[in-house]
Amino acid sequence: MISQQSLTPCISDLFHGLFKQKNNLRKYILQPHIVWTGSGREALRQILLQLDGKNIAVPGYTCHVVLDAVERAGKNPTFYDSSVIADVKDIEKIITKVDALIISYNFGFLPDIERIVALCKKHKVILIEDCAQALGAKYNNQLVGFFGDYAFYSFGISKNIGFCGGLIASKKKIKLQKTKKMPLSYLMNTIIKSSVHTLFFHPLIYRFTKKYLQEELEKNHPPLAYKLPRYAKNVILHQFKRYNKIQRKRQQNAVYCVRELDRIIDFVKPIEKSDPSWLYFVIKTNNTQEIMHQLQKHDIELGEMHTFQALSSNLPKSLDIENKILTFALYRDLQDIKKIVKGIKNVCRN
Ligand SMILES: Cc1ncc(COP(=O)(O)O)c(C=O)c1O
Repeated sequence: MISQQSLTPCISDLFHGLFKQKNNLRKYILQPHIVWTGSGREALRQILLQLDGKNIAVPGYTCHVVLDAVERAGKNPTFYDSSVIADVKDIEKIITKVDALIISYNFGFLPDIERIVALCKKHKVILIEDCAQALGAKYNNQLVGFFGDYAFYSFGISKNIGFCGGLIASKKKIKLQKTKKMPLSYLMNTIIKSSVHTLFFHPLIYRFTKKYLQEELEKNHPPLAYKLPRYAKNVILHQFKRYNKIQRKRQQNAVYCVRELDRIIDFVKPIEKSDPSWLYFVIKTNNTQEIMHQLQKHDIELGEMHTFQALSSNLPKSLDIENKILTFALYRDLQDIKKIVKGIKNVCRN
């Protein structure tokens, strides 16, 4: 069975984590000030703690840990309606009511960020880019993370570069509120996941290991308000060295999927001038359950992304997209991508 997920860390990254690594992330993260955190959600909470204003614009549809971070920072969320990609018109409706705006680049896709920057400048609203899934994505040939006042990234296990941790990149220098050390058990758990994922997700074994992943996904989502250990930074930095290759593989696979699945099934397409990070290929359908079920018969798993939710109950676009998404990770061999595409074509034609 081909799994929905695929992860980036390899044994060599885990080994090189034991040694000091060069700070080679500057090719992708351009803001002058950088601070590491224990997770993306903690990075967002720490950014929000820097701000005087209380009212924060939050996308109606994104990973729910974004809202958790806003609440833990003691701020008031004002939701703007959004689908996978936010629409400037929906942001215009709330911009006069907020002090800061969070833009989440869901699954690595980008909105018209230049217009959003102009809107924030006009209304003196602080712009926070949620690059948790968008490391290396570009709008109009410019890297995301440099458009706003603050950006944060995630190095959670299933992200563009996967292990554990997060990072704040900002125009102004920031001073972190004190946090706890990352528990050794959490770090060890991440090391184990990073060492066994190739075996765990192997097509011959995955039908047996799958249930353990389900248990993991059903766990609740803790705040992860930790400092990031040096070892984890080194593992991440070592992956940065080959991030151009990782990104190229995702992009090439995306080009193939877009070409082959156009007119076969609806999926999220990048807007003009944007180059997504292509963390996932994102299918939009009214028949998620049926398609998943049929694809399982072809030994292919697509995922529903349960952490991505409509964060408020009066947002039509967010509520509409919430149950329509099926994804598969694009970081894998073309051979596997071809099997997935073939399976989708078969299911859609029948
Ligand atoms: C869009 C988005 N924002 C923020 C986060 C938070 O990142 P982390 O899991 O590292 O806290 C995630 C991932 O969970 C995410 O997908």
